Amino acid sequence: MSPQPQAAVGAPLSRVEGRLKVTGQAKYAAEHDIDGVVHAVVVDSSVARGRIAGIDARAALTQPGVLKVITHLDAPRLAYRDNPVSLAPRGGRRLRVFQDDRVQFFGQPVAVVVATTLEAAQHAADLVEITYDAEKSSTDLAGSPADEPQTYARGNAEQALGSAGVRLEMSYRLSRNHHNPMEPHATIARWDGDRLRVWDKTQWVIGVQHELAAVFGIPAESVRVISPFVGGAFGSALRTWPHVIIAALAAREVGRPVKLALTRRQMYFSVGYRPAYEYKLRLGSDRRGRVTAMVHELKHETSRYERFWEANLVLGQMLYAVPNVSQSVRTVPLDVSTPLWMRGPGYSSAAFCIESAMDDLAYELGIDPIELRLRNEPNEDPSNGRPFSTRRLRECFRVGAREFGWHRRNPTPRSTRDGDWLIGTGVATGCYDVWRGQAQAYARIDADGTAVVESATHDAGPGTYTSMTQVAADALGLEARHVEFRLGDSTMPPAPPQGASQTMASVGSAVQDTCDKLRKQAIKLAVEDEGSPLHGVDADDVVVSGGRLQVKGDRARGETYQQLLARNNGTHLVARGSYNPPQESRFSMYGYAAMFAEVAVDARLGLVRVRRMLGVYDAGRIISPKLADSQAIGGMVGGIGMALLEHTVTDHRDGRIVNANLADYLVPVNADIPDLKAIYLDGRDDEADPIGVKSLGELVQIGVAPAIANAVFHATGRRVRDLPITAEALL
Ligand code: MOS
Repeated sequence: MSPQPQAAVGAPLSRVEGRLKVTGQAKYAAEHDIDGVVHAVVVDSSVARGRIAGIDARAALTQPGVLKVITHLDAPRLAYRDNPVSLAPRGGRRLRVFQDDRVQFFGQPVAVVVATTLEAAQHAADLVEITYDAEKSSTDLAGSPADEPQTYARGNAEQALGSAGVRLEMSYRLSRNHHNPMEPHATIARWDGDRLRVWDKTQWVIGVQHELAAVFGIPAESVRVISPFVGGAFGSALRTWPHVIIAALAAREVGRPVKLALTRRQMYFSVGYRPAYEYKLRLGSDRRGRVTAMVHELKHETSRYERFWEANLVLGQMLYAVPNVSQSVRTVPLDVSTPLWMRGPGYSSAAFCIESAMDDLAYELGIDPIELRLRNEPNEDPSNGRPFSTRRLRECFRVGAREFGWHRRNPTPRSTRDGDWLIGTGVATGCYDVWRGQAQAYARIDADGTAVVESATHDAGPGTYTSMTQVAADALGLEARHVEFRLGDSTMPPAPPQGASQTMASVGSAVQDTCDKLRKQAIKLAVEDEGSPLHGVDADDVVVSGGRLQVKGDRARGETYQQLLARNNGTHLVARGSYNPPQESRFSMYGYAAMFAEVAVDARLGLVRVRRMLGVYDAGRIISPKLADSQAIGGMVGGIGMALLEHTVTDHRDGRIVNANLADYLVPVNADIPDLKAIYLDGRDDEADPIGVKSLGELVQIGVAPAIANAVFHATGRRVRDLPITAEALL
């Protein structure tokens, strides 16, 4: 078959939905105009553990406009069927909204007020009096008992440590981080008889559909979830949180459509967070820098009702060719809500510790930090002996070192100054899994020669509308502006969650399969049609370009989709396609990054300023370079936040989060963001998926925080092992 020309993929397209966004026409969850909608405001608990002793809603109910106050005392019992289509941790017991009097974390929804206006609902919510039988709560990871560990071992790490030429022992503490997307979580729910429709902020319409069906005990076909635009999520919208259930419950109780938007403060309570970690790492090496042993002991927080899991052991198993590895991870159940994956989940936390330790080892041995990493590069995946599909980390470091000017640095810590500022540079490795999931798509070419392509995927920011348009345009031989890609509706062909960086590999491959089928269908129609200039041509010799079917190498012989359809009295052609990743692969598949950072640290004040960053990525094929840059820069910004600013602070006396707002919980702002640059190694990974991409969205965050911490060490000679790195730690 003649390969289709690739014109749209790889081109620096701007976001196709950009105009809708900047003109306010893109509707986010709370912005859909639904006739007759009323407003719900959640009342949340002011204790972390205990029972609700009493609820007095009389004052609230007398307010004008108030329709109902719903609590566990009068809420109907909900089905809460098991839901196999769920990202909830296995074996836990879901939080069941308004089903009993138990309080399990500070900020747990305990009542909802529904009123005809938002203001009335807000005011009435303040008037609901709730009393508690509070019990002593524990919310502090430090010193709380842990569950049984999950473990991994190869070789004999303790013995190898005992005989190692160099031994290092480090303890890290990573504070809790919150996702804090710009768009608050919000849901509008409407019942039409027994059928439920919701407009929701979600990274997984199919997941919300199935969870609502399970909770309300109705068939999944009776639930439709719509989410065309998502204003950022970073993982927080992967689960169906209590407020989504509450909106649907309230809508059923008042017999009206209900809108429920969480406040920024409420976003700190019940929509997940990156858990706090304690990480102990012991490392043994020979004098030439060959790491012989690593012992990882991790602890992180979880709720009492669910045992949260994230992939925090993978890097310790496969990043370096370490023969002896021992790992244990324990969760610590606390009176808190359940964490949820936040950009680069598990990996970014582990990478901070491992990559800081590698830096320590480099200085201990007097070996350049890049050289040390290269000396420990594995030739195959040391955790399973499989070959890597592609692993170009050496090239990432080579290209990055040249571009960044790495070798100009004086390797001695605290050796470079610029006035009052100490200057340092650091590197770290980033690495993230290539996840893939089953995905389906639908494509249609209309008589006017334009195409519509659909899949129930999402665009929480990476630019899925644009990148899928590019894939579809090339497979159909259309210009990108003649393709409309639609997403975010559970009635469309199913797609996996937009998480774990799997969207392009999974949905992109399904879109390509679907559009390949559609193009071939059109070509078949043409070559079999006596009226077509392509009649009798071998279908394999026909390509489509600019909407015109033509013989490869003989542009003159051909016709457009419009001509083909018009002659055949066709209004459209349709195809459905899919991607079903193989269960098993012979290969070990990851994306890689070399991260470089330059920082300036005020010698007297301890202030850290990132001066520039460079990421060089082995992420397979880059479909959409402009949007890849947007991901990479966003990942660096997120990593700067993790390294220097972000820190959820809990008052352990009552489990209250004290900085539940964007004034006190610090995220990077423009003034914190310097010159950031991303470079992608040219190439593709054909083992990973049919379109040759690896992962990108998570990868770009992993390795950022340790690169900064390592630069801070180089600048100051101070090793900070707690995140975020604060001025106090550097004084
Ligand atoms: Mo990503 S943390 O899987 O949205």
